[in-house]
Amino acid sequence: SVSNLITIDGPSGSGKGTVCHILAKKLKWHLLDSGALYRILAFAALKKQLPLNDSAALASLALTLDVSFVSNGSGVDTLLSGENIGDKLRTEVVGQAASEVASIEQVRAALLARQQAFLQAPGLIADGRDMGTVVFPDASVKIFLDASAEERAKRRFNQLQDKGFNVSIAQILSEIKERDYRDRNRAVAPLRPADDAFVIDSTSLTIDEVVEQILNLTALKL
Ligand code: C5P
Repeated sequence: SVSNLITIDGPSGSGKGTVCHILAKKLKWHLLDSGALYRILAFAALKKQLPLNDSAALASLALTLDVSFVSNGSGVDTLLSGENIGDKLRTEVVGQAASEVASIEQVRAALLARQQAFLQAPGLIADGRDMGTVVFPDASVKIFLDASAEERAKRRFNQLQDKGFNVSIAQILSEIKERDYRDRNRAVAPLRPADDAFVIDSTSLTIDEVVEQILNLTALKL
């Protein structure tokens, strides 16, 4: 096993994704974007028109998905059976579908080994909802990154506006609350801080401040 492991869990919009990218780059460690795996599975299921409550079919799809992450010049391409689907995964439809398939126990079990295989030298930043509680319970540094729903909706609103989308902040807030509710209240692997997680509330922090707190904590613990 590799002891260089930081798990970062939290709700969408907490800044997790950006923070994890910066940390992986700074430390030159691997990055597991576990949400991407659930999104890829949801995307593949929608494409095959599988019902999102067909546990057996979804679990078998999860086991056989041909997924790879390949670095390009500036980031990482997500390949599903060789097709680059990276820019199709971030839509609200795929996000809600991901959260639905993620509530199925057999699906989570089917994706477990695939996620654990990311733990390789020199180290791993694991980004998700259950990294510290289920996938890597022995991690030495566990972070739970949170922010108020209103602040997270505001961040998402700004992101979408920058991309030229015409969206309402009320609509975004209600979608965020819906997905949060499902993620926090599901029977299996609900979103919650591990007992030994360090909770950071990013509501009034910058990304750089969050990164610095995590690096300071890591220096103390590793
Ligand atoms: O983080 P992201 O928004 O990409 O995740 C999409 C959905 O996948 C989440 O809303 C959550 O339901 C699910 N997920 C999960 N466990 C993880 C990562 C994501 O259940 N470790």
